[in-house]
Amino acid sequence: MIKKVAVLTSGGDAPGMNAAIRSVVLAAHHYKLQTIGFYSGYNGLIEDSSTPLTPASVNGIIHRGGTILKSARCPAMHTEQGLKLAAATLEKEEVDALIVIGGDGSFNGLLALNQHWTGRIIGIPGTIDNDIDGTDFTIGFSTAVNTGIEAIDKIRDTAEAFERIFIVELMGRRSGHITFNVGIACAAEQILSFENFSQDDEQEKLSHLAKEISRAQQNRHASYIIVIAENLWRGGATELARQLKETANIDCTACILGYIQRGGSPVAKDRILATKMGVAAVQELIAGNDKVMIGERNNQLLTVPLAVAVLHKEKVSENLVSAQENILALTAQ
Ligand code: F6P
Repeated sequence: MIKKVAVLTSGGDAPGMNAAIRSVVLAAHHYKLQTIGFYSGYNGLIEDSSTPLTPASVNGIIHRGGTILKSARCPAMHTEQGLKLAAATLEKEEVDALIVIGGDGSFNGLLALNQHWTGRIIGIPGTIDNDIDGTDFTIGFSTAVNTGIEAIDKIRDTAEAFERIFIVELMGRRSGHITFNVGIACAAEQILSFENFSQDDEQEKLSHLAKEISRAQQNRHASYIIVIAENLWRGGATELARQLKETANIDCTACILGYIQRGGSPVAKDRILATKMGVAAVQELIAGNDKVMIGERNNQLLTVPLAVAVLHKEKVSENLVSAQENILALTAQ
């Protein structure tokens, strides 16, 4: 029987992580389980740094970005020694089950830890990147998309006023969920992402972009926005702007949105998703489930084996990519 549950947030923080912590704590309290939170991701396990969590300690956090438990990437979890230290802390604190809110790297850490510790493990997908297989949405993605949209709408105003070309770089590590969704929602003239472009085609893409921009300028298009996924173009948005100037004498302003996409108050969708997933995580533990991630497909909560969730990346909707490639990009002049 489970008596004590631990929770931690790991990897890139995502808006809605606090809502998930709150929901885990409230559900655990409801089922008469004790809860503790470990600080700073897996570092809290390695250093035995934790705090008891009660309904009072999660009061007034649902709307806050970041995570009250703090987060971190933890290289020590890639070592035997780190894993053993983490397992020893869980034993010492008499934890029966560990819930990790994070991305696929955090879930790999959880599976590795489970080789040294026999308690139960559950994952809740929390990352702005939305790249985890087994769930339509991860906690934080919707807020990051909205933040990107708000920022680019503002960039559009100045781009219109100055008739400027902007290249805006968005986060997502190696997946284009944020870039594609923001690009579509901002009517970006060009979307450059992993789903529609390969680095081998850089030269071809460069001349294509130069032609498209010139065509738009002839049509007196007042502004022109290219959104680009981080880690895609060698040298990023700044290098692409430099190359357009060098090869076609086109002036572009590069703008890297960066960490503003990780911060801010979670939008309704993230608060609600996080709350549902937190409750489900505790209920799965009560039901005897183990080594699973909570996901949601077509508005239905489900569980996915953690080992399966980390195998593949969730793909960007083909409808979105195809609409952009075959219709929207061709008509944006
Ligand atoms: O995974 C979330 C994320 O913000 C990615 O979009 C980005 O590539 C990465 O984290 C940056 O990580 P860090 O803050 O560790 O450099």
